[in-house]
Amino acid sequence: MSALFFKRFLQRPFQIASIIPSSKALVNRVAAKMDFSQPRVVAEYGPGDGVHSREIVRRMSPDSQLLLFELDPAFSSDLERQFADDPRVHVINGDAAQLTEELTRHGIDRCDYILSGIPFSILEIKKKRALLQKTYDVLTPGGKFIIYQVTNELRQHATLFDRAESEYFLQNIPPMFVTVFHKANSRNGHAHAAMPPSRLHANHSA
Ligand SMILES: C[S@@+](CC[C@H](N)C(=O)[O-])C[C@H]1O[C@@H](n2cnc3c(N)ncnc32)[C@H](O)[C@@H]1O
Repeated sequence: MSALFFKRFLQRPFQIASIIPSSKALVNRVAAKMDFSQPRVVAEYGPGDGVHSREIVRRMSPDSQLLLFELDPAFSSDLERQFADDPRVHVINGDAAQLTEELTRHGIDRCDYILSGIPFSILEIKKKRALLQKTYDVLTPGGKFIIYQVTNELRQHATLFDRAESEYFLQNIPPMFVTVFHKANSRNGHAHAAMPPSRLHANHSA
C-alpha cells in the first residue's frame, strides 16, 4: 500500500501532497467523529490508497453508502479492486467537484458526513469556494464536513458552516489539523443536536 502511495507521490507531488498515508491513530480519530449507529451516506474526497475508507466501511451498517472521489487513476483502480465485493462502496475516478452530479447519478439526495483528505490549500480560490458550497449544500441538516490538513487555512474560507472545531493531532507524520465543520439542524438552530439519518435512495444502477 505504502509503495503505491510513494510511487503516486513521485508522479503527482502537488495533487497527492504526502509521501505516506494517514496513520492508524489519525484514521481512528477521524472515524470516531462519525456516528455509525444508524445507516449513513458518507462521501470521501481524496481517499488515496483507502486507509480511511477501509475503516469507514468496517464501521458502517449494511445499508449505508460510501462514495469515494479520487482523481488519481492508479489509486482509483486499486480502490475498485479493494471494494469490488462491497455494493455499498462507489469509486469515482474524478474530481470531488463532481459531487452533486455523482450523488444524483446514484440516486442519493444527501450526505451525513463528508470527509476530505485533498490538499485544499493548493486549490485556486474560486474552486475552493465552489467545492465548499457544494459540500455544504449536500450535507443533511446536522451533518458534518471533516478535514485533516497540515495547515488550518480552510477555516477562514469555510465561513458558510454554522460551527467549526479544530484540534492539532500529533500522532501522524506530519501532524495534522483535524477540523469538523457542522451544518446546523435548522438555519437558526444550533449545529448537531440529534442527527437524523439521510434518506437513502441508492438505485445501485451505477
Ligand atoms: C494527501 S493524499 C490523502 C490520501 C489518504 N486519504 C490518506 O489519508 O492517506 C490526497 C489525495 O487526494 C487526491 N486528490 C487531490 N485533489 C483531488 C480532487 N480535487 N478530487 C479528488 N481527489 C483529489 C490525491 O490524488 C490523493 O490521493
